[in-house]
Amino acid sequence: MTETSTVIIVGSSRSTGNTAELAIAVARKLKASVIDLNQYQIAPFDYAFKNREDDFLALMKQVLGFERIIFATPMYWYAPSATMKTFMDRISDLLKIEKNLGRQLRSKKAALLGTGCDAEPAACFEQVFQLTFAYLGMAYQGMLYAHCENEFIHAQHLLAIDKFTEALHAQ
Ligand SMILES: Cc1cc2nc3c(=O)[nH]c(=O)nc-3n(C[C@H](O)[C@H](O)[C@H](O)COP(=O)(O)O)c2cc1C
Repeated sequence: MTETSTVIIVGSSRSTGNTAELAIAVARKLKASVIDLNQYQIAPFDYAFKNREDDFLALMKQVLGFERIIFATPMYWYAPSATMKTFMDRISDLLKIEKNLGRQLRSKKAALLGTGCDAEPAACFEQVFQLTFAYLGMAYQGMLYAHCENEFIHAQHLLAIDKFTEALHAQ
């Protein structure tokens, strides 16, 4: 079976924290590439698009080379991190000034990795992504949420990671 090319975009306030750990573990299974948004200068959405020379467009062109895009974020106040939200806001650029790129999202698969200290994520956390992917015409393949009381303990999530990656393969 050929592997679906996959990129995992990590948006967390720390590059070696729980979300990054989860992303790396999933990436290993899927032979996916991992992108850390902290390595890029991405300004908040601007109605005048004065930030179009920052790293967002170049990064997005790279991301669009993959068939599956997995968003990985900690749950901060029941929501995506500000780092991830800023990235998501900028996807609006693709609907307004780079429409040819925006259209390419329609053929992509999407999934979500989340971490948080709550045993279960708030429903609104996943819903933000479900609705956004639906709006963008991306095929949502589901979420893996890792409950991390403190640090990410790999052994606690092995089974869930296997199940999640197998489910992605099956879709
Ligand atoms: C600003 C902030 C807000 C948080 N809000 C929540 C929350 O609403 N629900 C939750 O379960 N955990 C919350 N947490 C805990 C983190 O989601 C959890 O520690 C996560 O695994 C951290 O991932 P990271 O290491 O990638 O930042 C919050 C942590 C921070 C720093």
